[in-house]
Amino acid sequence: MAAAATRPFAVGAVVVPLGLPVLGYLSNNIQVMFTVHLFLGAFWFGTSVLGAVVLGPVMGSLSAEANLEFAEGFVPKMNLLMEPVSVGVVGSGIGLASMMGLWASPTPSLWAALGLAIALLVLGFGPLHSFTTGMFDEIAAEETDHERLAALNKKYGMLSLVELVLMIAIVATMSGIRWGF
Ligand code: HEM
Repeated sequence: MAAAATRPFAVGAVVVPLGLPVLGYLSNNIQVMFTVHLFLGAFWFGTSVLGAVVLGPVMGSLSAEANLEFAEGFVPKMNLLMEPVSVGVVGSGIGLASMMGLWASPTPSLWAALGLAIALLVLGFGPLHSFTTGMFDEIAAEETDHERLAALNKKYGMLSLVELVLMIAIVATMSGIRWGF
């Protein structure tokens, strides 16, 4: 998968989203950590919306050949990038909350954010991961099973909508944290 996504992409996709929160935490500067969290969070949110409401439906409407060609470029890169991004967002959020001293008396919004984050990670590393690796196997296969690819694509699309709902909910909890709820 790393080779299919190209090696420099694979290295960047892991090092940047996981390295930034570590640097933010080590900086011991809340403003730096906040910026890292905002940057990664906005990236994850934006990509989820784009994937669920634009790219997914477009992919689903392509012919089998065009779908395969698109998926060849798209699936390995997205798969490699989004898992580290999700860990980076949740890690930076937890770290930021700790730098701000919020864990001393967590508000309901902070607990809700943590619960939603766990649900998002389970979804991403569980079913979404297995659907994308399944798609990758089909793409890489000598004889692509187009029906299986389309079925996985469809399941992936439906679950991305669930992810989107959780994502909107977690951003609402961010506002709650900000205003002390
Ligand atoms: C998809 C996941 C997430 C996204 C998209 C996201 C996004 C954001 C955004 C846009 C802000 C800036 C707005 C604000 O200050 O309220 C923010 C702030 C913050 N986030 Fe997150 N976040 C995510 C996950 C988390 C998690 C899991 C935690 C901790 C458990 C967390 C903790 C915080 C904290 C402590 C702030 C600062 C609040 C403040 O300014 O008072 N975030 N986040």
